[in-house]
Amino acid sequence: MAQSSSSKGNERRRVWQQLQLSVVVILVLIQSSFALDDIYNPGPHDADVFEVEQDNTVQSPKCRKVAGTPKPAGVSPPNRLFVGVPKQSGTYPVIHLQHAFTMKIDFYTQLLYHVATYGYIVVAPQMPQISLPDATMEIADGADTLDWYPNNLEALLAEMFPNLKVKPDLKKVILAGHSRGGKVAFGLATGVCKTVLAPNFVGVIGLDPVDGTGPGKQTTPKILPLSPYGLKLPFPTLIVGAGLGDDKAGINPPCAPLGVSHDAFFSNSAPIAYHFVASEYGHMDYLDDDLDGVEGVIANTLCRNGPKRAPMRKFTGGIITAFLNATLYGNSKALDQAILNIPGAAPVKLDTPQITRTITESVYASS
Ligand SMILES: *[C@@H]1O[C@H](CO)[C@@H](O)[C@H](O)[C@H]1NC(C)=O
Repeated sequence: MAQSSSSKGNERRRVWQQLQLSVVVILVLIQSSFALDDIYNPGPHDADVFEVEQDNTVQSPKCRKVAGTPKPAGVSPPNRLFVGVPKQSGTYPVIHLQHAFTMKIDFYTQLLYHVATYGYIVVAPQMPQISLPDATMEIADGADTLDWYPNNLEALLAEMFPNLKVKPDLKKVILAGHSRGGKVAFGLATGVCKTVLAPNFVGVIGLDPVDGTGPGKQTTPKILPLSPYGLKLPFPTLIVGAGLGDDKAGINPPCAPLGVSHDAFFSNSAPIAYHFVASEYGHMDYLDDDLDGVEGVIANTLCRNGPKRAPMRKFTGGIITAFLNATLYGNSKALDQAILNIPGAAPVKLDTPQITRTITESVYASS
């Protein structure tokens, strides 16, 4: 009798323990599935964004038709930089981000931070702010900064974080650019000006990239061949468009006119290429919330913008990390989920995402 009641008690305890265990397992599962999906908030790494002063003695670079040599060790970068970096020892791929027309790299800290928390080193060089219609000098300038990385980026990170071993993996360089900076990134990708790192390019990202002032009005150097798949890049492409980029802001012409912006960059990209468009957001919604100075006024007024920037910035940071995971590590789970475009899953409303998987398969919408 006593024994049976105690064994009943044991049984109950066992069931109870199993129940508790299952609850714990379920909670862990839920949490880990959230962690996988939630690319739109900062990732697993602690991260930092810091500024690096430029070498003021540097002359305007030449647009090299043949790659030169890396810059020597121990020199300052040819351009002022903002660097986003994970604060944890490790070796991380490098993303080289070119900013938008007349903008400051100071305006990209939130995006830099977001991507760095996923285990990437993001470097944004400041371009000359008064730029001519011809973007060749900016492409040369971008190449000049890339030439600085091999002998200096690792040392810079060692100096910034003496207690950590944070290293750049310069075998994996991803080019990225916003607006005119998108044109510059594709100019680097297509070799308009050469850099020693060109053989290590493994992907290119355009954030509302712009190649001119209107359909048929490309600025020099023309980057878009204006033919399907004509860019013929040997690595994957991600295009993130802003649906309002083609709208006027008051009397100002559109900042990203269709025909020379995200639509054309996508249709001109060879497989594999991805195209996401946030229909209700504008050309400058990739930037930080608080923008100072004249450049801030320009960013806030020159282009048609969305209701607020945070959702677009979070979407962009998230989709970049999803693209990088697919491109660099073959893990396309997050990207596949984004392509499904489940309502409410992303922080912005999206047009139907597009992918070009193969040329024969042609461009198709996935859902
Ligand atoms: C990237 O892939 C790794 C493993 O391959 C995974 O643990 C991580 O959650 C993925 N991150 C994103 C943002 O998809």
